[in-house]
Amino acid sequence: MSYKIAFFDAKPYDRATFDKVNEKYGFELMYHKEHLDINNVLLASGADAVCIFVNAVVDVAVVEKLKLYGVKLIALRSAGFNNVDIAAAAQHGIKVVRVPDYSPHAIAEHTLALMLCLNRKVHRAFLRTRDSNFSLLGFEGFDMYGKTIGVIGTGKIGKVAIGLFKGLGMNVLAYDLYPDTAYAESAGIKYATLDELYANSDIITLHCPLTKETEYLICDESINKMKDGVMIVNTGRGKLIHTKHLIEGLLSRKVGYAGLDVYEEEGAYFYEDHSDAVMTDDVLARLLSFNNVIVTSHQAFFTQEAMSNIAQTTMDNILDFFEGRELKNEVVYKM
Ligand code: NAI
Repeated sequence: MSYKIAFFDAKPYDRATFDKVNEKYGFELMYHKEHLDINNVLLASGADAVCIFVNAVVDVAVVEKLKLYGVKLIALRSAGFNNVDIAAAAQHGIKVVRVPDYSPHAIAEHTLALMLCLNRKVHRAFLRTRDSNFSLLGFEGFDMYGKTIGVIGTGKIGKVAIGLFKGLGMNVLAYDLYPDTAYAESAGIKYATLDELYANSDIITLHCPLTKETEYLICDESINKMKDGVMIVNTGRGKLIHTKHLIEGLLSRKVGYAGLDVYEEEGAYFYEDHSDAVMTDDVLARLLSFNNVIVTSHQAFFTQEAMSNIAQTTMDNILDFFEGRELKNEVVYKM
């Protein structure tokens, strides 16, 4: 039997990867350009499963509609699952699966790319030399060697990132809700309290999930505890940072640099070409106006290896569900 999968947020690169991997599985993939939300949930009608990405909005109302349309499985193509109401899905008997581990290297390496680019002003140098301006004014950076980096979240991505920072000769201060002390000892890093990490880090990078506890972790209160001129890098989730507070920090020069792969209101903009439109999001527009801020469009995951692993694991997750096998990548609702 061929199962029907309504595949949302389908970009040409998704279709290329998934069509290739699907040759082995033979699912009927119904591609939709939009990300799933209440306005287009009707597109899931008749599907056995929906396959969604980071900017889908699967709240109670969407879950209720999915149930009504006979959808039995929500297959996330991402590690994070903050955009799905897991309690509502459990209540309606819809299973949720994700791809927990597709390439921590992809995200860690993009994090490092943002840091080095901001520090050495590569984004500005690129534009300047294109215009035959070979001046170095304003481009002085700092050695990463010997600086202290605060890593919030030492899971799969945080650990790979720490390996890269150690390679540069940086001192690492880590914070995690569940510190891995054996790892810290073997990696030669120290766990600290959040306040210690804020007070002592030249760069702070976020690798924890978005939860009720971590929402707006970076806000005026935490920014005030940081070193002057701190660099903040976020490849985690947009809502880990209160963006308006970050902007105030940038304006007062408390924050010296920000590298953002994610943005709290990214759903309205990221992954689409809006270059012909007038930008109506004043916060994003302000962020984009700073020469010491780099915004990338939630692309840290986007490597060949990660894409291929995402497609493979997603198809396995879906097949496991329909063949009644144990779901190793299920997101289980915890009361
Ligand atoms: P993971 O589950 O391996 O690690 C997360 C770590 O955060 C764990 O060690 C956990 O104990 C810790 N943590 C949980 N709550 C915390 C809190 N309140 N304070 C501090 N630490 C806390 O997850 P992984 O694979 O390392 O991914 C981390 C996050 O990166 C994901 O949740 C996702 O939001 C984001 N991500 C972003 C991508 C991108 O393309 N920009 C791609 C993949 C993941």
